Amino acid sequence: MSPAVRSSAGRLAAVTPHAIARLANASPFLKWAGGKSRLLQTFDRYFPASFNSTKNRYFESFIGGGAVFFHLSPHKAVISDLNPELINCYTVIKDNVEELIVALRKHKNDKDHFYRVRALDTDKLTPVERAARLIFLNKTCFNGLYRVNSRGQFNVPFGRYTNPKICDELNLREVSFALAGVDINCGPFEAILKRARKGDFIYLDPPYQPVSATSNFTGYTATCFGNSDQERLADVARILSKRGCLIMLSNSNADFVRDLYRDFRIETVHTSRAINCKADRRGRIAELLIMNYEN
Ligand SMILES: C[S@@+](CC[C@H](N)C(=O)[O-])C[C@H]1O[C@@H](n2cnc3c(N)ncnc32)[C@H](O)[C@@H]1O
Repeated sequence: MSPAVRSSAGRLAAVTPHAIARLANASPFLKWAGGKSRLLQTFDRYFPASFNSTKNRYFESFIGGGAVFFHLSPHKAVISDLNPELINCYTVIKDNVEELIVALRKHKNDKDHFYRVRALDTDKLTPVERAARLIFLNKTCFNGLYRVNSRGQFNVPFGRYTNPKICDELNLREVSFALAGVDINCGPFEAILKRARKGDFIYLDPPYQPVSATSNFTGYTATCFGNSDQERLADVARILSKRGCLIMLSNSNADFVRDLYRDFRIETVHTSRAINCKADRRGRIAELLIMNYEN
């Protein structure tokens, strides 16, 4: 029988030959549109059996809230995203978590304070103040969502939560521990993925291809992720596959996506939608898990 360890979610997980995890209890410090927390148990069945976590690296180039990264908590990782505020947060938590905790304690769940902080010019703030601002806005805004307008300005209204946990010290310190030694980068996926080598495991969770004209969320960054970006990502996935990397990619259950990855293994998985302002759109939805390996 397999021995058991505590996974990042604090659950007991069997140590199978493909277990990547080291001991860690960190969980995402932000709520993020498209976050994968609800799919982790399903994903456990699909992580690669042949990945050598002490020798090779784990890449995640659309890190967002990092649900998969924290779940796996790999030994050697390269994480990145195009969103500079988000990446600043990861870097500050890694290098300066105690100062961040002090800065977060100054924030309060108050509507006027929220709008004052939202209006701040981030260029005039220190990295620690910027990280505290992002976490505070995420914890207190409507639906706990991060969304920016075309000028890159955060534009979600106040959320009216009764008692949001603005400063979760315990988890922030766990996150800092999980990020020790992790290579954190801000940039487009193709620039970071050039560094992946044979044997590395890459998880990719891009903004989803819309399945209908009204279903797309596009507010992660000032620019949206269109058809040509999806095509470029599929090209990069093919190059990395030829290089001998192990690739796992999430996307919507759209014909366009199925066609882009027709030469890959495609599995359909089911999830519930966490962030949607319309309650009737929060049901179970099918999405795709695309891989270049069999487990
Ligand atoms: C679906 S979310 C990732 C969610 C993440 N897996 C989680 O569990 O929270 C997609 C992410 O891609 C980032 N992104 C958008 N365009 C990008 C690009 N061209 N290169 C890298 N990251 C990009 C967004 O900022 C966003 O954080």
